[in-house]
Amino acid sequence: MAAEYERHRPEYPEEALRWAAGLLGLEERARLLDVGAGTGKLTRVLVALGYEVVAVEPGGPMLDQLRQAVPEAETLEGPAEAIALPDAGVDAAFAAQAFHWFDRERAIPELHRVVRPGGGLVLLWNWWDDRDPLQHELAELIGYAGHSPFSDDELPGAPWFRELGRTVVESADESSPDALVAMLATTSRFLTADPAEGADWLREVRERASKYGEQFPLPKLTYAFAFERLS
Ligand SMILES: C[S@@+](CC[C@H](N)C(=O)[O-])C[C@H]1O[C@@H](n2cnc3c(N)ncnc32)[C@H](O)[C@@H]1O
Repeated sequence: MAAEYERHRPEYPEEALRWAAGLLGLEERARLLDVGAGTGKLTRVLVALGYEVVAVEPGGPMLDQLRQAVPEAETLEGPAEAIALPDAGVDAAFAAQAFHWFDRERAIPELHRVVRPGGGLVLLWNWWDDRDPLQHELAELIGYAGHSPFSDDELPGAPWFRELGRTVVESADESSPDALVAMLATTSRFLTADPAEGADWLREVRERASKYGEQFPLPKLTYAFAFERLS
């Protein structure tokens, strides 16, 4: 599944990261933590922007993919709740499509510990864009209709962090019925379903997506939140 994840999941638009860097006042070559880094979809964009990145990820096979894709990054195997870094070891921490998996009671103080005073935290989620006719049609079937990737009352707050701002960046990836199905097959919605039910679900997605052609742009929305560390 780690290889499939690497192949089919989208990256993050540079624009969202430049927005966060500006708000946090990140210096060139700042030392950043990418926590819940997976196969490094965010790590590689941060490295390409010139930052020094430490990627933390509890899944060994995901981390193996990351090491191949982004050899420049330093890697640590482990969870967000116990990060093997010294106090104030990084200028900012980033988590993409991962914060909702953390045990927030333990992870937020731990992120506060490893970020230096005056540093920041950035949370990102790629999300569906249901203004796109295909995604609008699939909203009920995929299960994102009426949902957002985060809930405001679950975001970090005092005494650890204070929100500086939030934004939504629009971008699009090339997709196809096969690519869309392969991407959905890496999601927890599919991985936790009964196998027969999961297969029916993917068949239905493929059938509906096929009406939009063999290839199509798949717009997405990237939600980004920037926080400053409270002393
Ligand atoms: C949807 S993936 C996102 C991966 C990557 N950041 C990306 O954007 O492609 C969620 C990742 O969070 C990791 N994860 C789950 N629980 C975690 C925890 N408690 N601490 C850190 N990472 C965790 C998973 O192993 C997985 O790699």
